[in-house]
Amino acid sequence: MPDSTTPTVTAIVLAAGAGTRMRSRSAKVLHPLGGRSMVAHALTAVREVGASQVVAVVGHDREQVSAAVTELDAGVVQAVQEQQNGTGHAVRVALDALDEIPEGTVLITYGDVPLLTAQTLSELLLDHTHAGRAVTILTAELDDPSGYGRILRDEQGAVVAIREHKDATDDERAVREVNSGILAVEAAFLDHATRKLDTDNAQGELYLTDIVGTAVREGRPVGAHVLEDVWQTEGVNDRAQLARLGKELNRRTTDHWMRQGVTIVDPDTTWIDSDVSLGTDVTLLPGTQLLGATTIGAGATVGPDTTLRNVEVGDDATVVRTHGSDAVVGAGASVGPFAYLRPGAVLGDHGKIGTFVEVKNSTLGEGAKVPHLSYVGDADVGEGTNIGAGTIVANYDGVNKHRTVVGKHARTGSDNVFVAPVTIGDGAFTGAGTIVREDVPSGALAVSAGTQRTMDGWVQRKRPGTPSAAAAAAAEEPAGE
Ligand code: UD1
Ligand code: CA
Repeated sequence: MPDSTTPTVTAIVLAAGAGTRMRSRSAKVLHPLGGRSMVAHALTAVREVGASQVVAVVGHDREQVSAAVTELDAGVVQAVQEQQNGTGHAVRVALDALDEIPEGTVLITYGDVPLLTAQTLSELLLDHTHAGRAVTILTAELDDPSGYGRILRDEQGAVVAIREHKDATDDERAVREVNSGILAVEAAFLDHATRKLDTDNAQGELYLTDIVGTAVREGRPVGAHVLEDVWQTEGVNDRAQLARLGKELNRRTTDHWMRQGVTIVDPDTTWIDSDVSLGTDVTLLPGTQLLGATTIGAGATVGPDTTLRNVEVGDDATVVRTHGSDAVVGAGASVGPFAYLRPGAVLGDHGKIGTFVEVKNSTLGEGAKVPHLSYVGDADVGEGTNIGAGTIVANYDGVNKHRTVVGKHARTGSDNVFVAPVTIGDGAFTGAGTIVREDVPSGALAVSAGTQRTMDGWVQRKRPGTPSAAAAAAAEEPAGE
C-alpha cells in the first residue's frame, strides 16, 4: 500500500496493559483468534500498511509478550514500560526507545484490538495526510459508549477534546462518538505534546488523549476519521469478548472465501484461520475447522466434521471426517471417513487413506491405498500398492523406531503385521495374517500363518450343553426327521 507520496510511518503498538479480566496464565495479547495471537493481528496490520518502523510497548507479562513479538517479527523495536502510568506514558516510552524522534507520521494502535484491518489504518493515514492535520483520531459511534473516551466537538463540529469516561460530566457521557484509541499523529507534534502531559485527572495517569487539547490550544488542526465498522475498534478485555470477536472474525473470513468461489455449506460451524488459503470450487461441509497454514486445492471437498492444521490438500481431493496435522494429501486423493493424519503423513496423488486408518511420518506413493483399519508409521509405500485391511506397521521395538519399505504395486494381505525394519519388494504379495519379519523380495509371495488344523466334533466333546453344541448337533441330523 505505501507509495512514494506516503510520508514515513512509524507504528507504536501498545501492549503493556495487565489484562486481569482474562484470568489467564498467559498474557492477554497472546490469546489467539483466527489462529493468530491478538498482538500478531496488530503487528500484521501495521506491517501491511507499510510502517517502516514498529515499536511495541511491553510491560505486563513482559517476558512472554516480548518473546512472542520477537518470534513474530524480530525487526520490531521493543520498549519496556515498567509501570503502566497510562497511554501517554506508554507512547513516551516508545518514542524514547528510538534512536531519534521519527519523521513523518506516528500511527498508534493497541495490541488488543484484533479486528482492525490494514485497510482501515491505510484510510486513516490517507485522511490524516490529505487533511494536513497534527492529530487524526479514529472514532466510532457506539450504542453503548460507556467506558470509552468521548469525542467532544464545538458548535461547528470541530473536535476540541477527548474526555475520558471517568472524567466526563453527565452531558459529556451522553456523547456516543468515542475514541477508538487508534490515532495518526504528526511525529514532531507527538514528541512535543507527550512531554507536556500531566496526571491531573480522575485516574492519575498520563492520558495520551490530552494531546488533542494541546493541539487545539496551539492552533494545530485536529480531526476525526469516523469508522462505520465498529467491530474494528473493539478491544478484548475478557474471554467472552474474545469469543464474540473470534466469531465475528470467522464470519468475515468465511464471507471472504465464499466471495472467492468457495462453497461453505454452514459458515456457522466452519472455522477458518486467517493464514489458511483455499482454491476455487472448494466445498467445505459442516463442522470443518481449517487451522494454521492449511491450504486446500481447487475442487477439493473437506468435511463434514474435519479438523486440519497445517495440512496441504491437493486439487479435487476429498477428506471426510478426518483429524490431521502437518500432513499432505495429493491431488484427487481420498481420505476418511474416520482417518487420523499425523505429522509427516504424505499421501500421493489419487491415493487413499480409508476408514479407521492412522498414518504417521510415512509416504504413500501415487495411487497407493490403505483402505481399512490400519496403522502405518515410519513407512514408505510405493505407487499403486494396496495395503490389506487391518495391517499394523510395528515401527517401534520399545526402544527405537524403524522404517518399513513397501515397493510399488505390491498387494499385502489382510491382518498383516510388518515388523520394522523390513522391506517388501516391488510387486510382492503377502497372504492373510502374515507377520512379515524378514524382507520379501520383489515378486515373491510371503505367508507366515501355519497350515489350518480342523478337529471334527470338538465342540460337542469339549463344550457340551452349550447353545453352540446344540446348534452343531442339529446341523448333523439328517434332513426331514
Ligand atoms: C483508552 C483511551 C480511551 C479510549 C479507549 C479505547 C486514554 C487515556 N484512553 O482507554 O479514550 O476510548 O482506550 O479502548 O488513552 N496501555 C499501555 N500502557 C499503559 C496503559 C495502557 O501499554 O500504561 C495499553 C493497554 O495495554 C491497551 C491500551 O494501551 O492495549 C489501552 O489501555 P486501556 O487501559 O485499555 O485504556 P482505556 O482506559 O480503556
Ligand atoms: Ca480498553
